Amino acid sequence: MTRIILCGACGKMGGNVLSLLEGDSEATAVCGVDLYPREIGIPVYTSFADIKEEADVIIDFSSSQNLSERLEYAKNNGLGIVLASTGFSPADLALIEEYAKTTAIFKTANLSLGVNLMQALCKAAAEVLGDAFDVEIIEKHHNLKKDAPSGTALMLAETVNEAFDGKKKFVNGREGIVGAREKSEIGIHAVRGGTIVGEHEVMFAGEDEIITISHSARSKRVFAAGAIRAAKFLNGKGAGVYAMKELLAEEQA
Ligand SMILES: NC(=O)c1ccc[n+]([C@@H]2O[C@H](COP(=O)([O-])OP(=O)(O)OC[C@H]3O[C@@H](n4cnc5c(N)ncnc54)[C@H](O)[C@@H]3O)[C@@H](O)[C@H]2O)c1
Repeated sequence: MTRIILCGACGKMGGNVLSLLEGDSEATAVCGVDLYPREIGIPVYTSFADIKEEADVIIDFSSSQNLSERLEYAKNNGLGIVLASTGFSPADLALIEEYAKTTAIFKTANLSLGVNLMQALCKAAAEVLGDAFDVEIIEKHHNLKKDAPSGTALMLAETVNEAFDGKKKFVNGREGIVGAREKSEIGIHAVRGGTIVGEHEVMFAGEDEIITISHSARSKRVFAAGAIRAAKFLNGKGAGVYAMKELLAEEQA
């Protein structure tokens, strides 16, 4: 049994994780942490310092705020932590690397199997098409999303950039007299509206032809299911940073 502390328990993703755990015999949520607690059927604390329950893994679907509190708790109590929140700053990413020396950390901006495959397809396309095709990424999310561009859009941009040995630079949106597009650009565009769960499109625009690789999430359950899979995978793992690639390799072995 994987015992889970759910950070961001009272949010939309927290609710999806709790509802999936109801039918899960291998994992359970022992308590939650949330800045704005409310009655959700498990104890919810405003601070990790107040937690009394024993656990194996933290699932974090909160925000990039107070990251060090979560990491410190995981380290001091020997727990793994699934960092599913997005919007981390370069300083946050450095902190995660530091804690990964002592703690098992699962980190991905997107917990769906489809986006993991999309990453591989985009990298292969970029390797074949090279500089002859301009890469533009368009992401669309609901009107409550706080960070832009999405963590997934950045992850896809980084994956494409691997095919160019990291030489491309990311351009977020365009405005005004920006001049002709430079070959070194990967454009990233964030659309916000309504209840869109998450759409990502990577467009390779060449001369007289366009290739588009896209993914559409139709419900948040797909991410909640991925987080629970990641928590089970992380239970008992040694220190380090893990991602979907490692999880899928283990599940397929
Ligand atoms: N990796 C993925 O696949 C994936 C998928 C969906 C959402 N997300 C990310 O998960 C996060 C949550 O998404 P959501 O749609 O549930 O948002 P939400 O706003 O509905 O919920 C966030 C919850 O976390 C709480 N919270 C915020 N900061 C906190 C902190 N420092 N400590 C404790 N609680 C805190 C809020 O009070 C809220 O209840 C976002 O960063 C989002 O981008 C990631």
